[in-house]
Amino acid sequence: MTTTTHAGASTADAQAASGTAAACATDLTKVYGQGETKVVALDRVSVEFRKAEFTAIMGPSGSGKSTLMHCMAGLDSISGGSARIGDTELTGLKDKKLTQLRRDRIGFIFQAFNLLPTLNAIENITLPMDIAGRKPDQEWLDRVLRTVGLADRLKHRPNQLSGGQQQRVAVARALAGQPEIIFGDEPTGNLDSQSGAEVLGFLRNSVRELGQTVVMVTHDPVAASYADRVVFLADGRIVDDLRDPSADSVLERMKGFEAGRRTS
Ligand SMILES: Nc1ncnc2c1ncn2[C@@H]1O[C@H](COP(=O)(O)OP(=O)(O)OP(=O)(O)O)[C@@H](O)[C@H]1O
Ligand SMILES: [Mg+2]
Repeated sequence: MTTTTHAGASTADAQAASGTAAACATDLTKVYGQGETKVVALDRVSVEFRKAEFTAIMGPSGSGKSTLMHCMAGLDSISGGSARIGDTELTGLKDKKLTQLRRDRIGFIFQAFNLLPTLNAIENITLPMDIAGRKPDQEWLDRVLRTVGLADRLKHRPNQLSGGQQQRVAVARALAGQPEIIFGDEPTGNLDSQSGAEVLGFLRNSVRELGQTVVMVTHDPVAASYADRVVFLADGRIVDDLRDPSADSVLERMKGFEAGRRTS
């Protein structure tokens, strides 16, 4: 590591921070509609997601969790502020560049799985890489498939799979290309607790052992406890940030917010 005696501490800190940020929002604002139907879904959100860290995003329904995922992943435009993946500012990217960035650098696990109905499981999983003309790392792919437990369903199409199995295909698809960052919108919301635990364990291992960066929305304190950090949203703002969460500590915070809402 190089140091410079000229840089002030704050500059050095900022540089160090930007060196480890996989994604970063600064005063990110998202407004839907206008006039009577105007909704401020995100209200000047500033948050950094460090490389090789597993972050959970929590908050009540309508607090802006999906909107934050979509804006950070370049799936939705932003109304103000900035959203960056690595050093790349998303605002102002032309459609083609944005499509490339989403395809090559981001994995996204949707609340609804977004699988192509005409392709079977393995074709769905390797589709992003096929489009990009990249060969999957077979060893990694095998490991992903073993972990999500799909080995005997690879030739099945989505309508021949259960909801949980479809979700596991979606998780495998996001992991297969080893993107810089994976965003998941309740990636285990449709899984039974056993399959959910396996997928969460796998996401955590991919962070710990392979340096994968994962940001995941969840409503479940147990799912959040797999993360290194929990960021809490309410009404489009970040209201809390918890490190090394346990299911109990997450639950305590959630109760605190609810009590606050009732008395306010
Ligand atoms: N396309 C849209 N047009 C108008 N308003 C929208 C749109 N998408 C989201 N919103 C509004 O923005 C706010 C945040 O929505 P968002 O989907 O991000 O919430 P969420 O935290 O993901 O909720 P949930 O836990 O229910 O998934 C909500 O008030 C929602 O009604
Ligand atoms: Mg949502």
